Amino acid sequence: MESHTRVKVSELLKREPGAEVLAKGWVRTKRGNKNISFVALNDGSTVKNIQIVFDMNSFSEESLKEVSTGACIAVKGELTASLGSGQSVEIQAKEVTVLGPADPDTYPLQKKGHSMEFLREIGHLRPRTNTFGCVFRIRHAMSFAIHKFFNDKGFFNLHTPIITASDAEGAGAMFQVTTLDMTNPPKKEDGTIDYSQDFFGKSANLTVSGQLEGELGALAMGEIYTFGPTFRAENSNTPRHLSEFWMIEPEMAFYDIKDNMDLAEEFIKYLVKYALENCMDDLQFLNDMFDKELIERLRSVVNTEFVRLPYTQGVEILMNSGQKFEYPVSWGTDLQSEHERYLVEKHFMKPVILTDYPKDIKAFYMKQNDDGKTVRAMDILFPKIGEIIGGSQREESLEKLESRIDELKMDRETLWWYIETRKYGSAPHSGFGLGFERLLLFVTGMANIRDVIPFPRAPKNAEF
Ligand code: 4AD
Ligand code: MG
Repeated sequence: MESHTRVKVSELLKREPGAEVLAKGWVRTKRGNKNISFVALNDGSTVKNIQIVFDMNSFSEESLKEVSTGACIAVKGELTASLGSGQSVEIQAKEVTVLGPADPDTYPLQKKGHSMEFLREIGHLRPRTNTFGCVFRIRHAMSFAIHKFFNDKGFFNLHTPIITASDAEGAGAMFQVTTLDMTNPPKKEDGTIDYSQDFFGKSANLTVSGQLEGELGALAMGEIYTFGPTFRAENSNTPRHLSEFWMIEPEMAFYDIKDNMDLAEEFIKYLVKYALENCMDDLQFLNDMFDKELIERLRSVVNTEFVRLPYTQGVEILMNSGQKFEYPVSWGTDLQSEHERYLVEKHFMKPVILTDYPKDIKAFYMKQNDDGKTVRAMDILFPKIGEIIGGSQREESLEKLESRIDELKMDRETLWWYIETRKYGSAPHSGFGLGFERLLLFVTGMANIRDVIPFPRAPKNAEF
């Protein structure tokens, strides 16, 4: 019989009244009087609660004492048409079991309207709030949509390593992985640490990007994508940086930079559209509570053609803007988020793809342009976020790649395998990386990146 199986709240709210049902979840609120009690029950399947009605002729005060905010309960009863506004059905309770009580004197989520800062301190409980329920359900939906997008296009999901011995971005700032005794590491004659005695026989770190291995995949399987955690040890305490974040990195053989931009633009629009079509309850909640323009902004991105503009012209616009920036800008400087947002929010009022950056501010692997100064990079800049995607056409010429590696005083030896793909059957190819949490900032309208990942990692912060 149905009443033995728990039915999720999301499912109950779609059902016709009539049958006996079993619901399980956490009590959000309890109110009522001597005759009747109302409990709002939430089980995380949807932002909506189901109302449980207790006729106090059938239940003693004592039996409902532990049915308090935060407690986990199981309720059996009849699904009936609701007379109250706001829901079509409710449960007339017949039986209740308290699976896990929550002491009202100490349960931290009694009141509504806690600050985001406070909720970050209770990362173990914040998924039980409406806000974080919405954000994490949307996070799931976006993750699923990403796999669907690429699978439907015939891309293969390639699992690239988490532990590597290479620094893909050449930017330093990596987390070291070692089993050496840190109080007494083995030393070489010159006094430096002897990593040949370490676990991997060489110095290793957590990956900053799966791209280099992704390129190996593209140069064999055509079109691949990675979707995994990446790690950066930069001391960046900003609302847009995490030390551990997830990145989606497609890499495609035979794509030039234009094909790359076309794919990236189609990809982001697909994801935003997917959210609008599949996450409306959650988006509506976030729109009402946090950001009244959220849904409007999402719709506008789906229907807008992104601006495509060389870096050089972008810098000219910034220099002629008359705007006072915290960081001055001139040709050759790396753009700060304030510059990116000026272009997107003030100048063009839509997403911008900036291309052909100076080679000195970009990674070694980017395809060099004939001008000798710029590379075939493309960054996608978004309202409120700044850079959401970074990508490029890759240097496929063995000679040019090697000379750039030498110029940057990087080590050809640790990259021997990467270099060999340019020696054997090299091909034009391109790819990009989408920061998953930056995408989620945009889609949820949250202001801080620490609020779109369940357990954020940031400098001095690894709780939970
Ligand atoms: O621009 P990035 O560093 O590019 C790469 O790693 C390339 N290997 C990607 C590629 O071409 N396959 O990082 C890509 C994206 C950024 O645009 C940003 O969205 C995100 O990753 N990102 C971060 N997100 C959160 N916290 C951080 N510390 C981030 N650093 C980069
Ligand atoms: Mg970048």
